[in-house]
Amino acid sequence: MGALMMHVWLAAALGVSLCTAAPVSGGLQVFVTTHVSVQRGHTTTLPCWLNPPQSAEGLEVRWFRPDHFESPIMFYREERFQDSSQQASYMGRVSFGLKDAASGGLTAGDLSLRLQNATIEDAGDYTCYVSSDLSDQGYDRASVSLTVTEMGTSPLLSAEWKEDHMVNMSCESEGWYPEPSLRWSDQKQVLTPESLKYSKDSSGLLFVHSWLLVSSSTEVSCTVGISNKEPKEARVRLENHPQPESGSSAAGWVAFALLLIAMLVLLGVLYYKKREKKDKSGNVHTDENHALLPKEVLSTASKFYVNVTLDKNPTNQYLRIKNGILRDAQCDFPDGEKVTCLTAIKGTPGFSSGQHYWEVSLGKKDPIVGSQNVLVGRSYKCNCHPSGCFSKYI
Ligand SMILES: *[C@@H]1O[C@H](CO)[C@@H](O)[C@H](O)[C@H]1NC(C)=O
Ligand SMILES: *[C@@H]1O[C@H](CO)[C@@H](O)[C@H](O)[C@H]1NC(C)=O
Repeated sequence: MGALMMHVWLAAALGVSLCTAAPVSGGLQVFVTTHVSVQRGHTTTLPCWLNPPQSAEGLEVRWFRPDHFESPIMFYREERFQDSSQQASYMGRVSFGLKDAASGGLTAGDLSLRLQNATIEDAGDYTCYVSSDLSDQGYDRASVSLTVTEMGTSPLLSAEWKEDHMVNMSCESEGWYPEPSLRWSDQKQVLTPESLKYSKDSSGLLFVHSWLLVSSSTEVSCTVGISNKEPKEARVRLENHPQPESGSSAAGWVAFALLLIAMLVLLGVLYYKKREKKDKSGNVHTDENHALLPKEVLSTASKFYVNVTLDKNPTNQYLRIKNGILRDAQCDFPDGEKVTCLTAIKGTPGFSSGQHYWEVSLGKKDPIVGSQNVLVGRSYKCNCHPSGCFSKYI
């Protein structure tokens, strides 16, 4: 007996999680799918139907948001849509839809709402309401909750070397809805961040930033995602404290995850300096299309070839573009002769992991001499965002 009761109770609970219905004996009864999820900008259908089926053509059908019965998002009555009271933000985006492929539509009692171009503001509850002028049919209603999702960018990892072989790892990602979860891990376990912060941009999408301290020589992964969607991950293997080749002081940032190509800038700086010397000693001509690397290196490197396009209008006070050529601006560089991401320029595409090879033309007439004209293998990696730019050799 107890087991049977349990069964009935469970069945009832399961039923409730899928459909809800307010039974009015002999009257109209609507059923809905209680939860619907749609990606921002896409079209979805909020299913609502009469059971037992009957034509809804002669009925009043009203879809409204909570507390907006009088200004519905869709209102159908006397066999036509009543647009005068319709909420403006839904105008042109709503119509009757089909709850499934086999549905016979309105004449078979399908009251589903088809919603186009879902926006973040569309997220929330919707009531499907139907009523009849016939007193024995009455009215009924049920609610559908709509989740609107948006996938954000791949996480961007950056690292700052601290004392005692510790590294401050930061992870950030933007453009999510609703609030994404962010998870850190190393090869073995889940790591707890020191800080996890969310903020909203002007279009209502969420930005997440988190940091933690890890020991160097570990592999760290940051995963950002929303439920029921494939999460996005960035992973980096930290090595011991990097030594800059220029021999300058080591304090500073290293960043992975590149939108920026500071390597270009290093070349730019070298180029600029060499050019000054070179001007006196004559010109060395290099064909711009000529491969810069020795053949054997090139054959390996070219597997990772990417065609990077530089930002045509860098908003960087330390750089300028003249006649299509990137130059240092004539000014004092706060970081001195060192090349840092202060003098970086954005390129497209960006990458956050893997190996990539691109070539930098140093101009037709004044290439840097000899073997110094190409940097191979190691690259500059940096990370710029509104709060500043950080860089280091790795
Ligand atoms: C949906 O959005 C697209 C692109 O923003 C637009 O061209 C189209 O007209 C919109 N459709 C509706 C029904 O609002
Ligand atoms: C780690 O870096 C973040 C910026 O990403 C910064 O806000 C935080 O204070 C740093 N923590 C330490 C201990 O340096």
